[in-house]
Amino acid sequence: MKSIKKILALLTACLMMIAVAGCGGGNAADSGTKAPSNGKRVGVAMPTQSSQRWIQDGANMKQKLEALGYEVDLQYAEDDVQAQVSQIENMITNGANCLVVASIDSSALVNALAQAKAHNVPVIAYDRLLMDTDSVSYYATFDNKAVGTLIGKYVEEKLGLKEGKGPYNVEFFAGSPDDNNAHFLNDGVFEVLKPYIDKGQLVVPSGQTDFDTICTLRWSQETAQKRMEDVISGYYTDGKKLDAVISPFDGISYGIAAALEGAGYKVGTNWPLITGQDAELMATKNILSGKQTMTVFKDTRILADKCVTMVQAVLEGKQPEINDTKSYDNHKLVVPSYLCTPVAVDKANVKSALIDTDYYKASDVGL
Ligand code: BGC
Repeated sequence: MKSIKKILALLTACLMMIAVAGCGGGNAADSGTKAPSNGKRVGVAMPTQSSQRWIQDGANMKQKLEALGYEVDLQYAEDDVQAQVSQIENMITNGANCLVVASIDSSALVNALAQAKAHNVPVIAYDRLLMDTDSVSYYATFDNKAVGTLIGKYVEEKLGLKEGKGPYNVEFFAGSPDDNNAHFLNDGVFEVLKPYIDKGQLVVPSGQTDFDTICTLRWSQETAQKRMEDVISGYYTDGKKLDAVISPFDGISYGIAAALEGAGYKVGTNWPLITGQDAELMATKNILSGKQTMTVFKDTRILADKCVTMVQAVLEGKQPEINDTKSYDNHKLVVPSYLCTPVAVDKANVKSALIDTDYYKASDVGL
């Protein structure tokens, strides 16, 4: 049974890779050439191939590093924390000169990263901060609180909350508790929307607003679907209207949509506003069909560019460009960071944000 599951997961990952490879600039692996080796090796540890963004991140990093002559050891751990620990240890044993790590559980790599430090291998945290370790030199990411603020402000505007409209029934989802990004994003969402809960313009029929209740381990679509099903059957059986569901990730939005469909909700009639993050291809199509309302686009090409310049600087003994020295305290140090800027996307700007920038081809999304 387990092995069938594994084969299915592998097949899904392969299909996603093929799908993503056909998606214009969303992946950069098509545009680069391999430069002659410069003798330096970079280990790139990615969390999972179960979501499109990480496949793109890995492909972009590999292509851009190889174009500069680095040898790249790219590994995915399929959300298995111990597998990621082993992959990082192997990268060090195999002579990595620098490590780029997008963690699964941000506090679980302390010992592996200490080994990197002992071998003088600099570590760069990619997208997700590495917590509780002093073995991290720099952090390249998007402004994670700003992602939440964009989601909150979108809901504020669409529901006319500033104009005093409401009350609206809303439910909240957050990301994985072991991912620092999930907390930053959630803080951004609540900073904007909590005042409207306090004023009674937003009502949460389930009463579930604290992070520990609304979080979704490993950002799992299935876990989110189950929780949404429970919320619908527990609090919306008396014909109560559901106006909005705040989702922090497109994968979670798919789970929410599946639960709504299962309970008989219909797009265009009683379908709520649903948010998301990552501008995945499926989410983009869902935005165009009305099944999802918005997403937050974080251009993985820009993040990979920034991270590659950090790798280069570190390996050449130079200072990489950073733009934040205050926000990302990992409990051991405040990690010097470069924060890229996220963009809110809905039906109105799919074309300018995702097609005109060559992230997707118009035909990929049916435009
Ligand atoms: C990333 C998001 C992503 C989520 C789930 C977070 O750490 O910042 O872009 O949606 O993980 O993969």
